[in-house]
Amino acid sequence: MATLTSVHDTLDVARVRRDFPVYDQHRDPPLVFLDSAASSHKPRAVLDAMADYYETTHANVHRGVYAMAEEATARFEAARTRVARFIGATSTAEVVFSKNATESLNLVAQSWGRANLGPGDVVVLTEMEHHANLVPWLALAEQLGLQLRYLRVTDEGLLDLEGLDAALDGARLVSLTAMSNVLGTLPPVRAVADAAHAAGAVVVVDASQYVPHLGTDVDALGADFLAFTGHKMLGPTGIGVLWGREELLDAMPPFLGGGEMIRDVRLDGFTCNDLPWKFEAGTPPIAEAIGLGAAVGELERYGMAAVRAHEVALTSYALDTLRRRYGDDLVVHGPTDPCARGGVLSFGFRGIHPHDISQVLDQAGVCVRAGHHCAKPLMRRLGVPATARASFYVYNDESDVDALADALDACSDLFCF
Ligand code: ALA
Repeated sequence: MATLTSVHDTLDVARVRRDFPVYDQHRDPPLVFLDSAASSHKPRAVLDAMADYYETTHANVHRGVYAMAEEATARFEAARTRVARFIGATSTAEVVFSKNATESLNLVAQSWGRANLGPGDVVVLTEMEHHANLVPWLALAEQLGLQLRYLRVTDEGLLDLEGLDAALDGARLVSLTAMSNVLGTLPPVRAVADAAHAAGAVVVVDASQYVPHLGTDVDALGADFLAFTGHKMLGPTGIGVLWGREELLDAMPPFLGGGEMIRDVRLDGFTCNDLPWKFEAGTPPIAEAIGLGAAVGELERYGMAAVRAHEVALTSYALDTLRRRYGDDLVVHGPTDPCARGGVLSFGFRGIHPHDISQVLDQAGVCVRAGHHCAKPLMRRLGVPATARASFYVYNDESDVDALADALDACSDLFCF
């Protein structure tokens, strides 16, 4: 459990910023980047690892037997080893590279789902899911005649466990977020997973917002599958991860067909490659995997405990600052305890449309996201069409929060007279 510390006791943000070239490009006005929940910036180590691969060793992987191709394969597989260790996987066979978390979740739905589910089978989701963890199941439900059930969200933005036992009755699969991209809520994944397993269901965890910010151990979470993406954790776009328990992945049919995922192909059929390559059809995102490996290296260097402590402290500072300056005129959705949430603050302010807020903040160099955040059912639950959202990462500190609060004054001056 994270506890409150000072922002400065955790990460040396001035020093961290020196790792990120983007800050050199935006000095006047200084960059106030508060949209890492959408996509984080990239440190020099990631950019260098990708450039070095292209400049010195680019070749396709798992194919050529010349030295350069073997070096490319070694770097690609070393990235997988690094990712596996970072999330507590027992074997690299369990770590499948995909395009993004969305593709990872679609892989589970289409491969595990089609092989194991049929008409009337129950899949349990939550009302706080991102569309990436809703639409694949909604589509599969249409295709197979599944029954979808939802765990609801309380007024405080927590996962409502009241209906858990009823929802799990007869359930075959539960898929839930480990951290809401809107509310910052950290649902009790382990407790839900234990109950789901007791009911005989498989547990899928959308950890897109979790792995970048909290130390992750797939066993401790109680997951059977875990999906996340590289670009929210200092890595490049175009690379995601599906971790799955080996015996489950082993029994699943391939998701996409093509090169790399086969052992043999004849005119009357094919046999599959070993894990994890069975699920990696075609030329994989090689440079992107290498970039993700370097991103993991940077996060390990900062230390995930320090990253989490830093974000708890900064979230606490932000909640206090916004409350002190704007009182009830600024509504932050989600849990009020900074230790019970991630560094994501979705808010409404004085009835101003979130898109207007975002545009006015932009004039002060403050980048926040506005919209439904790919979580329309949750927006309906909150009773709003959209929110503005500020999200924090390793390069943010109190000066960013102060800039946000000051820019909100300008917003108020423009729209509330
Ligand atoms: N899922 C990303 C977000 O929440 C894009 O902004």
